[in-house]
This record gives sequence, structure tokens and C-alpha cells, in this order.
Amino acid sequence: MDKLLITGGKRLSGEVAISGAKNAALPILCAGLLTADTLALGNVPRLQDVATMEKLLKQMGLYIEKNGAVLELCGRDVNNLEAPYEMVKTMRASILVLGPLLARFGEAKVSLPGGCAIGSRPVDQHIKGLQAMGAEIKIEGGYIYARAKKLKGTRIVTDMITVTGTENLLMAAALAEGDTLLENAAREPEVTDLANLLVAMGAQIEGIGSDRLMVHGVPALHGATYDVIADRIETGTFLCAVAATGGDVILRHVRADILDVVLDKLREAGVVLTTGDDWIRVQMAGRPKPVGFRTTEYPGFPTDMQAQFMALNCIAEGNSRVTETIFENRFMHVQELNRLGAAIEIDGHTAAITGVPGLIGAPVMATDLRASASLVIAGLAASGQTLIDRIYHLDRGYDKMEVKLSALGADIERIK
Ligand code: EPU
Repeated sequence: MDKLLITGGKRLSGEVAISGAKNAALPILCAGLLTADTLALGNVPRLQDVATMEKLLKQMGLYIEKNGAVLELCGRDVNNLEAPYEMVKTMRASILVLGPLLARFGEAKVSLPGGCAIGSRPVDQHIKGLQAMGAEIKIEGGYIYARAKKLKGTRIVTDMITVTGTENLLMAAALAEGDTLLENAAREPEVTDLANLLVAMGAQIEGIGSDRLMVHGVPALHGATYDVIADRIETGTFLCAVAATGGDVILRHVRADILDVVLDKLREAGVVLTTGDDWIRVQMAGRPKPVGFRTTEYPGFPTDMQAQFMALNCIAEGNSRVTETIFENRFMHVQELNRLGAAIEIDGHTAAITGVPGLIGAPVMATDLRASASLVIAGLAASGQTLIDRIYHLDRGYDKMEVKLSALGADIERIK
């Protein structure tokens, strides 16, 4: 198992290119199942989760080939409508094949994802929505068996806001008969990116970017050429890294307009930010100020940035409180940060952080993707050496993070 060895205390400077968004690329790849034509996708990040999704889709018969910088998909020969447990258990986003398979082929067999490290994460809303569209759904032996001759448009109000739930229902509704109104829809930029791709494929969707998506079903979708949106969480992670170490870095290929709350919080922490069309310059000197926040759905503070800001708060000049409202078990980085000398106490869904002047390197363990990112940030800011074990979590969602950080002057090395 690979590890990362970081010798902290280096200031970051230079330029870094941000990759395409993992959480946009995953549903967009699944949209390849919706058409017999070709999708030509640009800015698809090279990540473990993307590789896992490609493997799953290929075994369904979806053609996927890299052609230079473009990933070509063709759904003409899709013939296997099953997502097996062995694949779904390694990546929950596999559930995103359910809507497209059911809508185009009238049938799907998808393993139930089960729980994961950050929480129980049920998929009841995906199922409820598809049933409302007329699908017959049976759960047996750990699998979802779904059937529908033709999905029918209807009004769906999900009990809570769900990102992949909205994406699954959006893809299903695109090929349903009649109109589907999705209320309480997730407004995350990754949902919007998928909706924009679907429109490029011939789908008719109104209200994109809002929590009320009206989908006028069409009989078939066609091919399209599309670039995946920039990864706002990778962007935020690099911004936090510079905020923690100090330095002066320009991030390229980013979208500042989808990071409002994150940028506001960084400014509150004392970071100097300048933004342009597709770049952000981040400058930081001295210790950060503490910032309190509650995670919420977009456009609120993203749960996927909670751990990285926690690392920043650990070394802040003062105390802060962070509340996690999306996932019930997303504080696993706390014990590891405390091993580095942080002073964090958890009370239910809230973490109280007493800022300390500095962290001291130690061996730590990554427990999930964003927890890993917070340990990298803490390690970069700490004095001495930090050895992070189980970085396969990091590789699931960050494209060559240690290579990008090394280029900015960090002392970080992958140990095989
Ligand atoms: N929920 C239900 N029932 C459902 C669906 C969701 O109870 O049918 C609950 C979940 O258990 C959770 C809340 O609703 O408490 C929100 O979950 P959501 O469905 O929005 O999460 P997700 O779609 O499974 C996506 C991202 C996550 C990100 C969350 C929240 C992808 C592939 N994953 O997950 O990304 O944290 O939205 O923004 O898009 C990550 O990248 O590290 C990551 C975990």
C-alpha cells in the first residue's frame, strides 16, 4: 500500500492546473449509457474512481477509448444491464447506472451500495423517484431489480436534497414519456454540469441550476462533445494548502464563481484572493484566523471541504466550531489531526477546535477521501515528517496530488 511522506514547513509558490471534477465526471460517464451515439468528453480527470467507473461501464458493453485528450464513449453495444456487488461496494457512485439503464433499456440490476466510512448513505430516494415514474422495483439478495416498459413523467419531491439521487432521476426523466418535475433537487454545480451535457445530447430541461428541474422527456438522445467542469473541491483543497503553509500560488483552469462560500471563508481566515475568468491567485502570510461554519447543500458550505478547513483551523490564532450536517460520521480525521498535535474535541455533530501555534509531524492514517486531503494539508503545515498511510483513499479523488504539490515547492514523496 502506498504512503505519502511529507516534510512540512515549506512555503508553496508557483502555478498549478486543476483537473476536471470527479463528481461531475462520474455521472457524465454514466450518461454514455443513454445513447447509441458517441460522446466525446474533455477534461475527464485521471482518478481511481473514474477508472473504476470505466471498468464497470465497459463490462456493460459501453465502448470507452482515450483519443488524445478526449475520452470517447459509445453506447451502441451495451448489452449487460447489471452492476455487480464487487464493483458497487468499491464505489457508491456506481448507483448512477440505475437511472440510465432503466430509462433506455427498461431494465436494470444494480447492487445496493450499503454503508460507507462517512455514513449510512441509503439510496431510498433514488428508488422512490423511479417508482413514482412507474418502475417496478424489487430488492432481493442485496440487489435492486428495476423494470419499466417505459418510464412516465411525474412530479417528484425528494425527502431530502440528494446529489446522486437528483442525477439518477434527471437521467431517467430525460428519456421518460412526458414531463417530470424534480422538486427539492440538488443544485450542486456537478448536477448542473450533467444537466448541461444532457441538453447537449438533446434533452429538454428547464430550471437548470435551481432546485426545481422540469424535464420534458424525449424519445432518444444523441451524441455530443462536452468538457467536464473544473473540480471545485480540488480547487478548494489547494487553496487551503496555501492558506496553511503560506505562499503565493496561481490556480489555473478553475471556476471561482462556484466557490463563493469557500472563498469568503478563506478571506475571513486572512487569505488574499484575486480571481479571474479561469484562475485564482492565493496569497497568505502568517497564521490563519479561525473560521466557524456549518456544512450544507450547495450553495452553502460543502461537506467535501469540511476536513480541509478543519486542518486550517487547527493552526489558527483562536478557537472555532465546525458543524457537519450532511453525513453522520465525517469527523474521522479528527483523531488523526490530534495525533499531529491539534486540539479538537467532538460533541455530536460539532467539533470544537482550539488553535495551536503549530503541528508536529507523526505517522497518521487516511480514512476517507477528504480526510486524506486534510492530513496532507496538516502535514504540509507541520514541522518535521508526517507519514500518511492508506493513501488509496486520496488517489480515488485527486489527480497526482503529490506531483502537483511538489511542483509548488512542497517536500512530499510517494513511498511504494
Ligand atoms: N440520503 C438518503 N437517501 C438517499 C440519498 C441520500 O438518506 O436516497 C442522505 C445521505 O445519507 C446523506 C444526504 O442524504 O446524509 C446527502 O447525500 P447525497 O445523496 O447528496 O450524497 P451522494 O450523492 O451520495 C455526493 C458526492 C459526495 C458528496 C455528497 C454531498 C458524488 C459521487 N458524491 O454524494 O462526494 O459529499 O454528494 O455533497 O457526487 C466526495 O467526493 O468525497 C464525496 C463523498
